[in-house]
Amino acid sequence: MKIAVIGTGYVGLVTGTCLAETGNNVICVDINEAKVQKMIDGELPIYEPGLDVLFHRNIAQGRLSFTTDLALAVKEAQIIFMALPTPPGGDGAADLSYILGAAKDISKLVTEYKVIVNKSTVPVGTADKVHAVFAANTDIEIDVVSNPEFLREGVAVDDFMKPDRVVIGTTSDRAKKLMTELYAPYVRQGNPIFFMDEKSSELSKYAANSFLATKITFMNEIANLCEIVGADVDAVRKGIGSDERIGKRFLFPGIGYGGSCFPKDVQALSKAADAHDYDFQILKSVMQVNETQKTVLAKKVLKYFNGDIKGKHFALWGLAFKPETDDIREAPALYIIDELVKNGATVTAFDPEAMDNVKTLVGDKISFAEDQYDALANADALLIATEWSVFRNPDFDKMEAIMKNKVIFDGRNLFDLQKMIDLGYYYNSIGRKLLNSQTS
Ligand SMILES: NC(=O)c1ccc[n+]([C@@H]2O[C@H](COP(=O)([O-])OP(=O)(O)OC[C@H]3O[C@@H](n4cnc5c(N)ncnc54)[C@H](O)[C@@H]3O)[C@@H](O)[C@H]2O)c1
Repeated sequence: MKIAVIGTGYVGLVTGTCLAETGNNVICVDINEAKVQKMIDGELPIYEPGLDVLFHRNIAQGRLSFTTDLALAVKEAQIIFMALPTPPGGDGAADLSYILGAAKDISKLVTEYKVIVNKSTVPVGTADKVHAVFAANTDIEIDVVSNPEFLREGVAVDDFMKPDRVVIGTTSDRAKKLMTELYAPYVRQGNPIFFMDEKSSELSKYAANSFLATKITFMNEIANLCEIVGADVDAVRKGIGSDERIGKRFLFPGIGYGGSCFPKDVQALSKAADAHDYDFQILKSVMQVNETQKTVLAKKVLKYFNGDIKGKHFALWGLAFKPETDDIREAPALYIIDELVKNGATVTAFDPEAMDNVKTLVGDKISFAEDQYDALANADALLIATEWSVFRNPDFDKMEAIMKNKVIFDGRNLFDLQKMIDLGYYYNSIGRKLLNSQTS
């Protein structure tokens, strides 16, 4: 099939590349000229494990191309995917200007039937709005399909190639037939395609992300309580996770959810409910608790140093909002950096993939290290904000030789408590017992 993908971010580029991998001809469009040129030159603009092999193969085999020319892409395509940003607007509701703007531009270019697929995360009713934009600009028949994307950054290629499920919102038989054909290679193992109406499909995505954010937040509150009552969140996690109704996944406490999806989607769903005079109370609590959770690690540091970290120097491991990505949108590490620097401390950070993005954002507000051990030089303490695998089993002898103090604040519970006792560290993690005699 001939496919156009509008927007080549984390979702659009993975979608376009993975659709090319099953033999489709895919043309990807972006307004960012530098990004498009980079891709034309064979360079990936994002870090996503496994994407490079597919990207290079499909370019070489002539199935994947890039352009800034929307007209060129629209002309040939039978199916047009929109994978555009839906950031929070001023009031926190999803800003649909990218989607509706692109819909308007596309509507002026279509000369024959097309399926317009919305892959972005959007509020209920957006498919109708997109339809109305087309109706206002053209008599050509089109179908608007809601096809929310559930991929996770870091494992996005696997998630796209072998999705748990595909959700397709459409009431058009013609669009349903084309979408079934397109997705058939990805559900060969029997994973379902759920067809539903557009509104249910749109809400499915917000419901999924909000539910997951709620699960994380619930565990963060359990972890906070564990610290107060002297329980161990790892034990509690295992105790509840073995119940199939609860499940083992997404029960790890931390320093608040971040990323480009959960914060904005929880907020957008809450705002959408408000707009329909429904007070979605759980989501409001989730947002409030998450804001507080982001402060937990910095508060632990301040308490340890008796409220005064002026002149102290900290090593920070991890900047990306989660491992295996260079995405730093709403990353908890950014909050920690702000708090430490605001209180007069200096920071040297290391992240395997996200340092360039943070440099662009914060400039010389902090220093960056060549590797995780370099980051430790002169550090009064180490803070851990992202659970990259490379941090899980470090060379503790090397660390001890470099660090000024054997003090670690771990926002991701990477290390075994007994091991840290044996190594003689002050080790403060989330929802677990505080270790070492130097307790604060
Ligand atoms: N990132 C994720 O993990 C993820 C997962 C599922 C769903 N989503 C949703 O998918 C959507 C896209 O997210 P993303 O993370 O890929 O965004 P992104 O910011 O990484 O990418 C968006 C791209 O669209 C381009 N763009 C903006 N306006 C354009 C236009 N008029 N024409 C062509 N290109 C244009 C931008 O230059 C950018 O390259 C959002 O609604 C998001 O909520 C994201």
